[in-house]
Amino acid sequence: MSRLVVVSNRVPLPQPGQPQAGGLAVALSDALSRRGGLWFGWSGEVSEQPDSRPSIRHHEGIDYATLSLSREDYDDFYLGYSNAVIWPVFHFNLGAMDYQRRYSHAYTRVNARFADCLAPLIEPDDTLWIHDYHLMPLARELRERGLRNRIGFFLHIPFPDYDVLRAMPGHRALLEDLCRFDLLGFQTANDRHAFEESATRAIGALVRASGQLRHRNRDLRTGVYPVGVDVAALADLSAQTLTTPAVQRLLDGLGERDLMIGVDRLDYSKGLEQRFRAFEALFDDYPHRRGHTVLMQIASPSRGDIAEYADLRQRLEGLSGHINGVYGDLDWAPLHYLNRTFERGAIMGLYRAARVGVVTPLRDGMNLVAKEFIASQDPDNPGVLVLSDLAGSAAELSDAIRVNPYDTDAIAAGLNRALAMPRPERRRRHERMMAVLHHNDIGAWERRFLDDLGGGHD
Ligand code: G6P
Repeated sequence: MSRLVVVSNRVPLPQPGQPQAGGLAVALSDALSRRGGLWFGWSGEVSEQPDSRPSIRHHEGIDYATLSLSREDYDDFYLGYSNAVIWPVFHFNLGAMDYQRRYSHAYTRVNARFADCLAPLIEPDDTLWIHDYHLMPLARELRERGLRNRIGFFLHIPFPDYDVLRAMPGHRALLEDLCRFDLLGFQTANDRHAFEESATRAIGALVRASGQLRHRNRDLRTGVYPVGVDVAALADLSAQTLTTPAVQRLLDGLGERDLMIGVDRLDYSKGLEQRFRAFEALFDDYPHRRGHTVLMQIASPSRGDIAEYADLRQRLEGLSGHINGVYGDLDWAPLHYLNRTFERGAIMGLYRAARVGVVTPLRDGMNLVAKEFIASQDPDNPGVLVLSDLAGSAAELSDAIRVNPYDTDAIAAGLNRALAMPRPERRRRHERMMAVLHHNDIGAWERRFLDDLGGGHD
């Protein structure tokens, strides 16, 4: 079995005292320690004098090799091309795109630097698994340095339709670069189809009858691998953390009121403004809910150096003040808006305590909050998930209450229905969604991708 090399922009460096890593990082670390492996990427640091070689740490069978970014690369590669160009376009939001030519240059430059530093660490037999939109040129860069290894790529975010993609400067080069991988993995069949359509129309790739893609005398495979969660671990964790003092204090404070919960990065793709407006609509359209419902919205700060994100943060602060000011009462604040990050365990306890999980992104690759919410419910008395039709997870979770995230009245109706749903129906829906989650858990995701990429079995 060949050694595995995982490359991602963020590397979850093991750090004592840090919040527990998410399920995805745990699953990849498991695969790396089983096969012996290397995790390569950005250290998360910005330095005046970026290192010429990666710093390498060994922990529990895994080598972690990380690089810092210069201020210019952070601004133009990370904030610029990755998060002010690719991110908005791939989430179908051309209005949020802020393109500068120097961003494209930085994107190429950083990927070349990653390849320069990574190539010497690669052995001929290694299998490489590259993650996400920051690193789409990496296979080409590595091949140009003589690497002949198997290289797979998984896109965690959506792939846009061609008519959206073609507004993005540099899209042809990206499509060409993606065709240099051996296997391209997408979250949903929709994303895969959008990629094939773009590759066909923009750069003349051919979809063969076998499903493989042919481009410039090379065949590559594409596949659909929806990211899953560690169902059993989440069920355990949420049952344990439900009883922690912090969660119990919250429940005591709520009394008979129903808790609805949303947990997101503070990102315009998450539909938070529409969600807040829908919460207002709930009280307007269903006045009997006033005084009896609390929405706890955790929005962890993210990419705050980008104007779109800073502006959104301000607007949400205004909206939450407005909602509590207009609808609240002496003994009731309807919206509990928390602009910070919480421990994973605490969040799982909150999910279990909640009657409704609210996941209404305008676009999302998968959205693991939806799956984590389901996995953390008490099977005997489960809460209800209200889920956007435009989240990747909606393709699997057909037993959620599905809503159009732009239609605030429809979301309000969905919330009302969720709050009113009788227990037998809640149990039936939860049971069916748990079966889906078990069938395609995080381990299955990782195994299926690596099996298709080849390079040996455990
Ligand atoms: C999304 C992306 C990840 C990214 C994460 C956090 O989930 O798919 O690649 O790491 O957001 O964003 P950040 O910009 O903080 O890395």
